[in-house]
Amino acid sequence: MRILIAGASGLIGQQITKLCHHRGDVVHFLTTDKSKLSNQDNYKGFYWNPAKNDIDIECFSNVDAIINLAGESIAAPWTLFRKKKILNSRVRSLELLNKSIPKNHKIKAFATASAIGIYPHSFTNYYEEDEKEFSNDFLGTVVQSWEREAQNIKENHRFPVAIIRTGLVLSESGGALGKMRGMTAKYLGTVIGSGEQWVSWIQIHDIASIYLFCIDNQLDGIYNGVAPNPVSNLKLTRELACAMGKPIVLPAVPVVLLKLFIGERASLLWGSQRVSSKKIEEQGYDFYYTNLKPALKDALSQEKSQLLEELA
Ligand SMILES: NC(=O)c1ccc[n+]([C@@H]2O[C@H](COP(=O)([O-])OP(=O)(O)OC[C@H]3O[C@@H](n4cnc5c(N)ncnc54)[C@H](OP(=O)(O)O)[C@@H]3O)[C@@H](O)[C@H]2O)c1
Repeated sequence: MRILIAGASGLIGQQITKLCHHRGDVVHFLTTDKSKLSNQDNYKGFYWNPAKNDIDIECFSNVDAIINLAGESIAAPWTLFRKKKILNSRVRSLELLNKSIPKNHKIKAFATASAIGIYPHSFTNYYEEDEKEFSNDFLGTVVQSWEREAQNIKENHRFPVAIIRTGLVLSESGGALGKMRGMTAKYLGTVIGSGEQWVSWIQIHDIASIYLFCIDNQLDGIYNGVAPNPVSNLKLTRELACAMGKPIVLPAVPVVLLKLFIGERASLLWGSQRVSSKKIEEQGYDFYYTNLKPALKDALSQEKSQLLEELA
């Protein structure tokens, strides 16, 4: 299979690429950074710049499936300028893919990133994909625009489009866990607010596998990309500290204080979304990691995960 990945150099993209190479797929990738271009037989890079409507259309050559992960990171402070980039990078990437896919393509499946931030903050709801209420905060509105653009692709082309509402990805290579790990290592790990807020996590190996599962099975529609057992912020903080052998010495940080320091971005830490994995499981996806402890253990492992060794 030949798979085009937009944003392959990121956290999830690197893991998908590993899995693709393991099973013998050829990866074409789109990057906004010319220094990342490569020209190996099974890993071929193509430049694009969605902000300028610029794309090397050779990237589509003989491609069977497309995975889109492109988007400006949400980790840095949300200045007005960065907020625009967070939104535009996602919407314009999909717009550009949509209008650039050649008429004579042989694409059979398209899978694209989304986020559980589309669901409103709640301590009690258990969100499934048919939820009608959406969050109206910054991330909620970004994700709604992002998904609308994905729907446009589906209307414009004949292949199925899977939209993957991703939870907090646990990976040794960075992302949110990388930051929490850094803080915990310096004895700065702490519970946020009451610690009751739900964290719907997913191990990096599972989220990468779900993308491939969606394109292999030509799935269409919205799927939550979360593990079956979400936990509270309190549990995640304690389990991480325990896995690292570091105590939590600081008291919980009040949400008002957090908002004072990092503003609107605090919603990433106090927001609560308990999200269901039932729909993807009903399609036949079998999770490698259903419980937090082993998922964290492997995500924190400096060595190659046992799972990947087994696969190799
Ligand atoms: N990781 C999570 O916990 C999580 C949770 C929910 C949703 N998601 C979403 O899933 C997607 C993949 O996540 P990830 O963690 O792998 O993200 P990531 O590590 O930040 O990678 C995203 C990739 O997007 C590309 N990119 C950056 N700025 C861009 C821009 N202005 N225009 C076009 N492309 C740009 C970059 O690739 P190049 O430099 O090669 O262009 C980057 O490697 C993201 O869209 C993210 O929002 C992730």
